[in-house]
Amino acid sequence: MKIIKKISEIKEIISNFKKNKKEINLIPTMGSIHAGHLSLLSEANKYDGINIISIFVNPAQFNDLNDFNNYPNTLEADIKILSKTKCKMIFAPSIKEIYPLGIKTEKAVFKYRDILCDLFRLGHFDGVTTIVKILLDLIEPSKIFFGEKDFQQLKIIEQLIFQNNLKINLIRCPSIRDSYGMSLSSRYSTFSKDEKSKFKKCAQIIDANLLEVKKDFNHKILDNIKKELRSYGISKIDYIEVRNEEDLSLSINNERTRLFIAFYLNKVRVIDNFLLY
Ligand code: PAF
Repeated sequence: MKIIKKISEIKEIISNFKKNKKEINLIPTMGSIHAGHLSLLSEANKYDGINIISIFVNPAQFNDLNDFNNYPNTLEADIKILSKTKCKMIFAPSIKEIYPLGIKTEKAVFKYRDILCDLFRLGHFDGVTTIVKILLDLIEPSKIFFGEKDFQQLKIIEQLIFQNNLKINLIRCPSIRDSYGMSLSSRYSTFSKDEKSKFKKCAQIIDANLLEVKKDFNHKILDNIKKELRSYGISKIDYIEVRNEEDLSLSINNERTRLFIAFYLNKVRVIDNFLLY
């Protein structure tokens, strides 16, 4: 497995792939590789082409410096995990390589904004679209793989591809969930034992109410989830909303909708979404 850290090197490799008419499948990550990322890799394996996993903890998408500093940075462990898979290439540049002139973002996508995470993590999605566009320009993939856990991110990247007229197929991959039904996330690797058991309890609260939402949607159930989470000590809940998965508009039924949820368990922001149909 090749580990590439330099832009000059990845450019040369990509140009050779292109000369040889090889297709590229890109799986962008911020590392701390878990079963969710590996499922993206398995999906990529179903298609022709060379799989490249990028690992870059992108400072531009952290609206809070503490959050950036606390984000797990586990390149050596990630390399070990990925070396046991069919992954042939990791692109793991430094911050200087990606942002030689300093960290800068551009607001490129205006659709699917001012709702959900965008209201609570100002500038986050500008950081995400900035780094994804840099990666797409460098690696020129024909397919890119995203998990449905970060559903708003996925929609914004679809829009980025559409707006720029890129011939890139975004492959959506369902969340990989733990035994309590929550999507896996690199952020949860920092949970203490106590936080793990709190997380399990929160998952049970969500799961029990989810059955009710699916049976008979009404706003009282959403209030109930908030109330139960609060009574369990979760004081910061960013949102619990039902939205249509096509346009992310608020919805009052459960046709093609998902329950979107974001709250803090101590310092860790938990986000997830659950199919309601
Ligand atoms: O979902 C992530 O891990 C990141 O937001 C991404 C897409 C790799 C961009 O840094």
